[in-house]
Amino acid sequence: MKKLIIANWKCNPTTLKEAKALFESTKANLKNAKGVEIVICPPFLYLLNLNAKNSRLKLGGQDCFWENKGAYTGEISAAQLKDAGCQYVLVGHSEREKYFSETDEIANQKMRSAIKAKLKPVLCLGDSLEEREKGNVQQALFRQAEKALKGMKKDEIKNLFLAYEPVWAIGTGKPCSVGEAQTMRLYLRKILAKLYSMKISESVPILYGGSVNSKNAKTYIAEAGMQGVLVGGGSLDAKELADIVRAVR
Ligand code: PGA
Repeated sequence: MKKLIIANWKCNPTTLKEAKALFESTKANLKNAKGVEIVICPPFLYLLNLNAKNSRLKLGGQDCFWENKGAYTGEISAAQLKDAGCQYVLVGHSEREKYFSETDEIANQKMRSAIKAKLKPVLCLGDSLEEREKGNVQQALFRQAEKALKGMKKDEIKNLFLAYEPVWAIGTGKPCSVGEAQTMRLYLRKILAKLYSMKISESVPILYGGSVNSKNAKTYIAEAGMQGVLVGGGSLDAKELADIVRAVR
């Protein structure tokens, strides 16, 4: 299984010109990156203007709406993302919860629409600082996974990816320790075994996200046993992302 590197640009950059320049330099820096899958998740409105053809880059959405189409002002559906060339979509990122009050139930609806549209969903799960301080990390992860995957059959989750993203590590420059990341990876496997089966639990790739950079990326793969990384801030610098990819390969 190829390692997966997801670049989440979030609400950056401000202009199409900058987005194209970042994409092109990312492409150039990664043209020899074999053996890894690299997914760029730009703001929606740049998707159709970024040319991923003949490159090592794939496109992904940062989020999706749960209905295909209809009177839902301001939303972008999973079907529309698919049509725009996306292969992946992030679901349940903690910034959706923090700024838009999204719940695990909403993540569940989005998971369903992503799967229906034949996108590969990357379900983000993570503990808040408060949950961590109270020692409730495992309960928090179990609750999120159970609700977000509710009612989903085994054959529906065959393209599922999980990302362990502790909220306190996102954008803070304070990444999770490798030991803790490894413990959480094993715990997420346990959750999947409980909700589905051992076989499924072993087949779902698990990524780490939260202040990943070119210095710490390798340890999450080599020591914590992750199958990839989700990179926010670091992906806005094409050279830094290329160094992360090099470290992960
Ligand atoms: P960060 O973001 O790399 O800037 O911490 C990670 C994320 O989007 O999950």
